[in-house]
Amino acid sequence: MEERGISQAVIRRLPRYYRYLGELLENGVERISSNDLSKKMKVTASQIRQDLNNFGGFGQQGYGYNVKYLYTEIGKILGLEEDHNMIIIGAGNLGQALANYAAFENRGFILKGIFDVNPRLNGVSIRGVPIRMMDELKEFVRNNEVKIAALTIPKEKAIEVANLLVDNGVCAIWNFAHTDLNLPDNIIVENVHLSESLMQLSYNISRYRQEHKES
Ligand code: NAI
Repeated sequence: MEERGISQAVIRRLPRYYRYLGELLENGVERISSNDLSKKMKVTASQIRQDLNNFGGFGQQGYGYNVKYLYTEIGKILGLEEDHNMIIIGAGNLGQALANYAAFENRGFILKGIFDVNPRLNGVSIRGVPIRMMDELKEFVRNNEVKIAALTIPKEKAIEVANLLVDNGVCAIWNFAHTDLNLPDNIIVENVHLSESLMQLSYNISRYRQEHKES
């Protein structure tokens, strides 16, 4: 399947297609037209066709999309056909909230360990996963083929800890700390900023008010 030159904007939309198609599958829907998918997702049908054409289309004239096939193919594109072992560094409010969210596992993100520096958290279990101290980290990462680390620690510590993770074989960081990590190019970093999403919400509230005042 051709995947060259696909814009990040398209890639960012794929998880949403994947989620909707998963819901359709759960509801026993076998095929769907781009028009029906468009109504459901509130995205134009031409956007859907354009996005999916990046990967060879998947659709058939007069038939629409085979939901299971499309779901599986998008899953492959997103790298979800294999499991990813994950750890969380920082078992505070956010780290514990992430650890408590079981649905990541349904997508193949397996929480193997949780780490912190606070001795009071040592051995406390979250959904059966014990919080460990950072001195166990190196050995743990090596023994458990950990690929992804979620960083939910204070930003002042994030760069140092990210380097430690990379030195021990972690190849992807899900970074919640509000700082740039500047890691080598072979390390994949996904920065998450809930406040940016909230600002987007605020912008949309303002825009909605503006438009409805004018009309
Ligand atoms: P918190 O203070 O509840 O938890 C931080 C935890 O990190 C504590 O348990 C602490 O002992 C641990 N820690 C500190 N240094 C460490 C180290 N070197 N190694 C391992 N563990 C260490 O803080 P909270 O609310 O959970 O936030 C965590 C981080 O996530 C902060 O940097 C915060 O700014 C950020 N955050 C980001 C959000 C986002 O949308 N990106 C949303 C909320 C928080």
